[in-house]
Amino acid sequence: MKRDPGLDVNMERELAKLSFEKVPRIVSDMLPGPKSQELIDGEVENETVTRVIPNILQTVWEEARGATVKDPDGNYYIDLTAGIAVNNVGHCNPRVLETISKQSKLLMHNPDATNYQRVKLGQKLQQIVPGRLKGNAKMAYGLSGSSAVEIAVKFAKSATGKSHIIAFEGAYHGALGATLSLTTSQQFRSNYGPFHPYVYHVGPYAYCYRCPWEMEYPGCDLECAKYVEEQILGPSSGIDIGNVAAMIVEPVQGEGGYVPPPDGFLKAIKKTCEKAGILYIDDEVQAGMGRTGKMFAIEHYGVDPDLITLGKALGGDLPYSAVIMDNSVAEKLSPMSHILTSVGNATSSAVACTNIDLLQEGLLERTEQMGVYALAVLKEMMDDIEIIGEVRGKGLMIGIEVVRNRDTKEPIDLGELMQILLALRDKGVLMLPCGRHTNVFRLMPPLVITREHLDQALEIIAEVFKAVQNDIVQ
Ligand SMILES: Cc1ncc(COP(=O)(O)O)c(C=O)c1O
Repeated sequence: MKRDPGLDVNMERELAKLSFEKVPRIVSDMLPGPKSQELIDGEVENETVTRVIPNILQTVWEEARGATVKDPDGNYYIDLTAGIAVNNVGHCNPRVLETISKQSKLLMHNPDATNYQRVKLGQKLQQIVPGRLKGNAKMAYGLSGSSAVEIAVKFAKSATGKSHIIAFEGAYHGALGATLSLTTSQQFRSNYGPFHPYVYHVGPYAYCYRCPWEMEYPGCDLECAKYVEEQILGPSSGIDIGNVAAMIVEPVQGEGGYVPPPDGFLKAIKKTCEKAGILYIDDEVQAGMGRTGKMFAIEHYGVDPDLITLGKALGGDLPYSAVIMDNSVAEKLSPMSHILTSVGNATSSAVACTNIDLLQEGLLERTEQMGVYALAVLKEMMDDIEIIGEVRGKGLMIGIEVVRNRDTKEPIDLGELMQILLALRDKGVLMLPCGRHTNVFRLMPPLVITREHLDQALEIIAEVFKAVQNDIVQ
């Protein structure tokens, strides 16, 4: 039974123009096709083995429009990856292309100097930022999610005069320097230590499906938040709270498994931070910019952060990031104490402004509607598909957790994950995994995906999951 997401007909007509037609369309006998394979071989010759995506997705991108992608062999795919939550307004959105075309003729790079576009972006961020930060914030710009987190951590330390940062188990905040020290996945930490000694990890994050006490919300009374408070404030947990500058928290854990915490969890964590006298950094790099149906995912939870990091979809097709911080933090920073060569690029700033405009023109509400719809369809699928242990999410940030056994919740292994990912690709649907056990499929399409493409993708997911489940169920 398909529910009607109640979309605006005129808007749908416009959005349909953004993507390629007749997708999915697979014309190669085998994937990757010959032209794609040649490029993959060329890349292997010259690049390091460290990259993740080519090893799990094995798709070469030649062109992308809206929520669709074409490879060099003429195969067309529905994109449920949004370039890892980057292309929220769609790939090569014509409004973005127009912005790039106009601005790039005037100015792109400048020496981190004042320019019209970055001033305009600051004004826009000041207006859209939630809670008490609105009209009371200062911005700093970066080049990627990692650089935004690096800046936020550095500024929190400078503003408080304290050295330590607290992060959650299961967190992902980047894969460089300070950010890799905050990230907990062994996959990314392996062989890259030693890590910064000033990081404490606490937990559990409110991952209800895998609650260590096997409690249920709301009957659990947020036992996890109480436990975290005990770790942060308790006298014997090993945390020197007097030396802690900030706690960094994802409003919905992204790489950790697309885990939206239940209501009340983040509020409780914020309260603990207030009791401890430490700053709260809200890392919106993956969940922000409309992905969850609100501009900032924290808006679902009624928490007022002290600092917010944005990346990925802020710049979308052009890399960009930002840290938004309370004036009270900003005013403690030393003049001329921080620089990154390429920030404030006028064209990237202009594109970020266009991205914000596009989201504000009805996309946020539509994302909420499409998310409710997709979750309902996926939940219905669970009647026939035993390997889906749970579906969860907000807006179009939806996780499909795949297990061998619903009772034991034993995750599928990497081989099984690859079997599913490649079968989806072979039918023209691109997805990426996440999760502590790499067993969660992320449904994170560009927010401009048409209802038709979403339905097609959901049908292919059902088809593939049904076809493989007999091999997997235990
Ligand atoms: C929450 C969060 N923070 C930071 C990052 C790092 O962003 P980037 O890969 O752009 O450096 C990511 C990337 O996935 C993320 O999900």
